[in-house]
Amino acid sequence: MKTRTLRMNMLKGLGLSTAVALMVACGGGEGTDQAAGTNTAPEAAAPAAPNADLITADQVKFAETIDQGKVAKGKEIYEVKCQACHTLGSNRVVGPGWKGILDQRKPEWIMNMILHTDAMLETDPEAQAMLEECLVRMPNQNLTKDEALDVLEFMRTL
Ligand code: HEC
Repeated sequence: MKTRTLRMNMLKGLGLSTAVALMVACGGGEGTDQAAGTNTAPEAAAPAAPNADLITADQVKFAETIDQGKVAKGKEIYEVKCQACHTLGSNRVVGPGWKGILDQRKPEWIMNMILHTDAMLETDPEAQAMLEECLVRMPNQNLTKDEALDVLEFMRTL
């Protein structure tokens, strides 16, 4: 058990996300008990463990005006880490397109989908419904909370 946990953490550090994406493609998320062991991750690992407390509405407050600095950073993150699976239109590639996403989803829900992807795919009915449709399990992209907030700000412009 201990060694397994360690190995999982090391794999995580090495970009397990991509591997998981390939391995679990079309799967229903069966049997990778990732709730165990991820919260003991050493220094390198993900900023947020999948089973960490989910973000609540009061933790995500939009300023009235859109912060263009954050938008630019968010767009850059999108291009590097999200574009492969998400368009900015309404068409699905691997995951759903992001056009008008904030009309459909609450900001805190989006933040949780980004930062606590596994927990959401295991417990949130809407995330699970999407998984059933897309047949690919979104890998956690290991963003920091600030980076996720930048992406969220970028989404305000879509
Ligand atoms: C390997 C493909 C892949 C990558 C890369 C990816 N996603 Fe996803 N994403 C998905 C899939 C597939 C879904 C639908 C849920 C599922 O099947 O797991 C999804 C769903 C989402 C949703 C919910 C969409 C909705 O319409 O409600 C958000 C938000 C999201 N992803 C954000 C991101 C962000 C931010 C990044 C980059 C940091 C990212 N994703 C990178 C595949 C990906």
